[in-house]
Amino acid sequence: MTMAETVDANERELVETALKAMKQAYCPYSKFPVGAALLTKDGTVFSGVNVENASYGGTICAERSAVVSAVTNGHREFKAIAIATELEEPASPCGLCRQFLVEFGNYDVILVSSTSKRIVKSTVRDLLPGAFTPKSLDKHAGNSA
Ligand code: THU
Repeated sequence: MTMAETVDANERELVETALKAMKQAYCPYSKFPVGAALLTKDGTVFSGVNVENASYGGTICAERSAVVSAVTNGHREFKAIAIATELEEPASPCGLCRQFLVEFGNYDVILVSSTSKRIVKSTVRDLLPGAFTPKSLDKHAGNSA
């Protein structure tokens, strides 16, 4: 694998899981498969794919699918998420997914291209500076009880 950034063994495994998950994407309309692999604090990995819908707005992205799966199984603390697409320049999560990811704090984001194998690393906070978070609500008078 040729990579722009180096990854350790755990990150490599997460990247491989995202690439594998990508093959399960349900994207008959966009034909743009996305796979995500979310690593929890205790080392469990939850995968997600984009699941499109004939009513296009009903589509859920891979990142949110992975978060929903993790939270459904009782996990709310994350170490990293790997996101795989076919774009040669690894694609970055959409705005809605960034907001969804930041809900659960700051952790690593590892983008990978299935075609070029390029990897780009960042963090949730890097992707969404000045985010509106659960803490923002704490500051609101109505929530200070
Ligand atoms: N998509 C994702 O799964 N994650 C993103 O962050 C960006 C977009 C999906 C949604 C849709 O199924 C397809 O990619 C094209 O937008």
